[in-house]
Amino acid sequence: MTFGVVTPSCAKANAHNLCEMKFVTIDSWPASPAPDYRPELEAGNVLYFPVTPFAFAEESKEYLRHIHFAGGAVHKNVAYRPASDRVTGLETDAAQLQRLRAILGEYSRSVVKFTAELLPPYAASWKLDYASFRPVEEDGRDLPVNKRNDLIHTDAFPSRPTNGDLILRVFTNIHPVKTRNWVTTDPFRQVAERYAHDAGLEQIATGASSASGKLLNQSARVLRSVGLPVVPRSGYDRFMLRFHEYLKRNEEFQKNTPKYPFAFAPGSTWLTFTDVLPHSVLSGQHALEQTFIIARESMANAENAPVAILERLCGKPLLEGASEKRKRPE
Ligand SMILES: [Fe+2]
Repeated sequence: MTFGVVTPSCAKANAHNLCEMKFVTIDSWPASPAPDYRPELEAGNVLYFPVTPFAFAEESKEYLRHIHFAGGAVHKNVAYRPASDRVTGLETDAAQLQRLRAILGEYSRSVVKFTAELLPPYAASWKLDYASFRPVEEDGRDLPVNKRNDLIHTDAFPSRPTNGDLILRVFTNIHPVKTRNWVTTDPFRQVAERYAHDAGLEQIATGASSASGKLLNQSARVLRSVGLPVVPRSGYDRFMLRFHEYLKRNEEFQKNTPKYPFAFAPGSTWLTFTDVLPHSVLSGQHALEQTFIIARESMANAENAPVAILERLCGKPLLEGASEKRKRPE
């Protein structure tokens, strides 16, 4: 295991004691005994495998690279739902959908098996979320601001609130020659200390713990339980959605935050908590990804969860009425 790809900007930031993030390169896997990588991930670092550590058929990659996908603001990627074995986001014929289901299912199962071996404490209670295929060249994509990938942001899902749990994503670059180019910045704790107040944390926390806020959330749960398309959200989830957009729209943040570029090689795989590590994608094409929702209780140190950081910052609970509703695994 080697630590760090120190870029010029990161080296400069280190001199000012600002840069705490790093890439942990794992050259060989499986390892015995396997290190506990949870503290690295929870600190907002990236686990990087220069060579993808699980099998994925070359003919499957080749098939994916030839899919015609225009992409747009509604469906940025092709999505795969492991629980229902369903592909969404692509209008095509039944034969292609069936092949895609088989290929994305193969990728999803391989990632799940590998990640369970890499991070057994998380696997005991994680919730398997969607996988995706990202066929579009990221450089020059024409997307609305809140959907843009090239602006640094933390992830939050409008349709799938986490109630304080964390978003772990495993990515694989299946492009034969192009790197996938990210720029990250300091981890959530530092960005939240600088910007959460301005993004409205106190206002959301006060609303979430007020009588009317709790009533609103209860009403949303009732509507949801009778089948209406309402998403009940904890104060935490409301803040994280707002923060996602706030960071993308904040020109000062985008311009001045320290930037740590990294090029993920063709054929590589990497993992990170995308709600802990603010990130952007500047260029690259043909990436696969599988998302897991990681229970706070399975963290090496739950005090590092974004919700714990935010609650300390505002001195108020952000999960009122939400914690007892959490369900895992699916
Ligand atoms: Fe993202």
